[in-house]
Amino acid sequence: MAVTVILIGFMGAGKTAVGKKLSNELGFSFMDADFAVEKEMGMTIAEAFEQKGEGGFRKAEAAVTLKLLDEAATVRGGSVISLGGGAVTIEPVFERLKREPLVIFLDEDADAAFSRAHNGARPLAANRQKFRLLFYERKNLYQGAARFIVDTRGKGIDEVVAEIQGLLKQRADPG
Ligand code: S3P
Repeated sequence: MAVTVILIGFMGAGKTAVGKKLSNELGFSFMDADFAVEKEMGMTIAEAFEQKGEGGFRKAEAAVTLKLLDEAATVRGGSVISLGGGAVTIEPVFERLKREPLVIFLDEDADAAFSRAHNGARPLAANRQKFRLLFYERKNLYQGAARFIVDTRGKGIDEVVAEIQGLLKQRADPG
């Protein structure tokens, strides 16, 4: 059976950077949902929000994310998927995540996340106050969808990747 490691968490939590490095270490393929949505829509996320509204973006994100999860199940050797920060707000995606065994929530601090995410490319990371509100609104969803929570506060990518590898090893070989 294909192993699929799914990274969830807020914007700026490091899902893409961690996912890339983790997939390298494991020899797994890497899929990034934001990248796949941009490819599918033929525009950047900022353009999608502007031209189609958040609803239009979420519709595409839902379809692409569910497709990626289906595809991952058939990838030989396994894969790591980094989801968009809002994927958990999409009901069918949330329900699907609850059935997946390796959903990992990268739990970052709101201010550290904001300084990484606030780079002009993310429409929902333009304003610190709004970002913080959304961060706390979403927390329960991440916790509800995840099997594992990795506290990434103050940690570098290598440390987070090593921790996830430890989790996976422990799960594969609990003794
Ligand atoms: C979003 C997160 C972004 C991207 C879009 C909306 C969100 O993904 O999908 O800007 O609603 O949290 P990252 O978490 O990869 O930045």
